[in-house]
Amino acid sequence: MHHGKKTVTLLWLLGVCLLPPECHGNQYDPHLFPATGPFCEGWYMRLVDSTQRVSIGFLFGQVLPASCSLVPMSSQGGPRNGKCSSFQHHTEQGREGERPLVVTGVLVQDSNSSHPLRAFQTAVPLHDYSVTVRGGPVVHNPDDRSPPDFAARFGENGSVVVRGDNTTVDVRVGPVSLWLQAVDPVPWGPGGEGPEGWLEHLPLPIHWFVYSLRSTVTAYKMTDTVSGRTVSGHGARLHMEKNWGQSFPPGWVWSQGVTDANVTWAVSGGIVDFDVLNVTAFLAGYRNPARNISFNFTPANSLVTFTHDGCQGVVNMTLTALNYRLVVKTMAPLATFSQCLLGPEKDGFRPVCVESYNAVVYLKAYRRHGFHFVLVDQVNIHQAALEFGGLYVCKHKCSGV
Ligand SMILES: *[C@@H]1O[C@H](CO)[C@@H](O)[C@H](O)[C@H]1NC(C)=O
Ligand SMILES: *[C@@H]1O[C@H](CO)[C@@H](O)[C@H](O)[C@H]1NC(C)=O
Ligand SMILES: *[C@@H]1O[C@H](CO)[C@@H](O)[C@H](O)[C@H]1NC(C)=O
Ligand SMILES: *[C@@H]1O[C@H](CO)[C@@H](O)[C@H](O)[C@H]1NC(C)=O
Ligand SMILES: *[C@@H]1O[C@H](CO)[C@@H](O)[C@H](O)[C@H]1NC(C)=O
Ligand SMILES: *[C@@H]1O[C@H](CO)[C@@H](O)[C@H](O)[C@H]1NC(C)=O
Ligand SMILES: *[C@@H]1O[C@H](CO)[C@@H](O)[C@H](O)[C@H]1NC(C)=O
Repeated sequence: MHHGKKTVTLLWLLGVCLLPPECHGNQYDPHLFPATGPFCEGWYMRLVDSTQRVSIGFLFGQVLPASCSLVPMSSQGGPRNGKCSSFQHHTEQGREGERPLVVTGVLVQDSNSSHPLRAFQTAVPLHDYSVTVRGGPVVHNPDDRSPPDFAARFGENGSVVVRGDNTTVDVRVGPVSLWLQAVDPVPWGPGGEGPEGWLEHLPLPIHWFVYSLRSTVTAYKMTDTVSGRTVSGHGARLHMEKNWGQSFPPGWVWSQGVTDANVTWAVSGGIVDFDVLNVTAFLAGYRNPARNISFNFTPANSLVTFTHDGCQGVVNMTLTALNYRLVVKTMAPLATFSQCLLGPEKDGFRPVCVESYNAVVYLKAYRRHGFHFVLVDQVNIHQAALEFGGLYVCKHKCSGV
């Protein structure tokens, strides 16, 4: 019932854009918000500590709703819109509710396959949220060349600072405190380009950029004042990414993982809504340094077959480029999925997706030899993330809230 099978190419959509312009780049810095919404921007980091078998996510972002307009920033780079401080809507129960415009979240999961991912997400008052670049307001989009240098602050509840190769998170979200320091980001591509490569210059409804596949977490500490639990450690790995655009798509999957041997895998895709038509498209990257493998998949270089079943916690994909192929099966125990998590929609944050950090990715990599694809690598990635969003969530249970 919730299965879908698609063979996908976007080549025909891209038309004359097929000659890649000169572009690489670091898109991790904040993007410029347009004068009127809808627009959203959000950052997501996920720590994996395989020694203690714990994984911790941290996310934050802002939505400029369709009905709101931007108020010019102060020169200190303070709040970025003041025209609407909250957005009223009616919940399913008919009560008046609020769709928050700025949200922070911490997601936590141990390796026990009967424990769901626990999510703490809170709204941040707009006037307490600020994003600065090189200490000042955001007046340009990231320039593709400079290393990131930005800070996001959540009033009394902490901040995130990404500067050069250093990342520091020091935040409180509801009952949870999270502190971490990470260094040595490993970029998606050699020029700092992300999964979209030159496609990022197309007017896609939503963009995905991976800044680091596996930064080294020099130290971290998470305290949950409700359970009294504290987790801390050294040498965990941190995946770092962001999204920006109009809103999350109608349906999507996202998955990400890293092994102790530095194998990394990340994929994002689903229904892309171009107003006049919907297409199904994926961006993905697989790295295995020990085997000198670095496979990228975009709609411009590959065909994808894709089946998903959110009610079974399973995604199967075959991604085929000219000279290489991946066959990927991803499964997470149903009991490990979170409740519906908040994500950016056109009118603010609302519950949109479920996630597990206890997925296993079964991955086989092939290279073309003449007319055949030959198996060159086979890896299972444990403690991987798997997310179902929008229409891909079991029984659409996160939609329409
Ligand atoms: C997993 O959690 C359940 C319930 O909290 C507990 O009964 C079980 O012993 C745990 N399993 C392991 C392997 O720790
Ligand atoms: C990153 O951190 C290291 C060690 O803490 C420090 O020496 C260096 O100056 C920092 N770099 C930046 C760009 O902040
Ligand atoms: C900080 O967190 C506390 C506890 O969750 C909350 O009551 C307060 O509103 C938050 N302040 C900001 C600026 O988000
Ligand atoms: C993984 O990469 C890190 C640095 O990025 C390196 O220090 C470490 O030795 C690598 N581990 C393996 C098993 O190759
Ligand atoms: C694209 O998909 C969304 C969600 O299912 C739907 O609301 C929209 O009408 C579709 N657009 C087209 C052109 O089919
Ligand atoms: C690794 O792969 C790259 C690109 O495919 C190739 O240029 C390079 O020669 C390879 N290195 C080794 C050691 O095989
Ligand atoms: C995924 O593939 C497995 C075989 O490896 C199959 O049993 C399962 O039904 C598939 N699931 C979906 C949702 O396609």
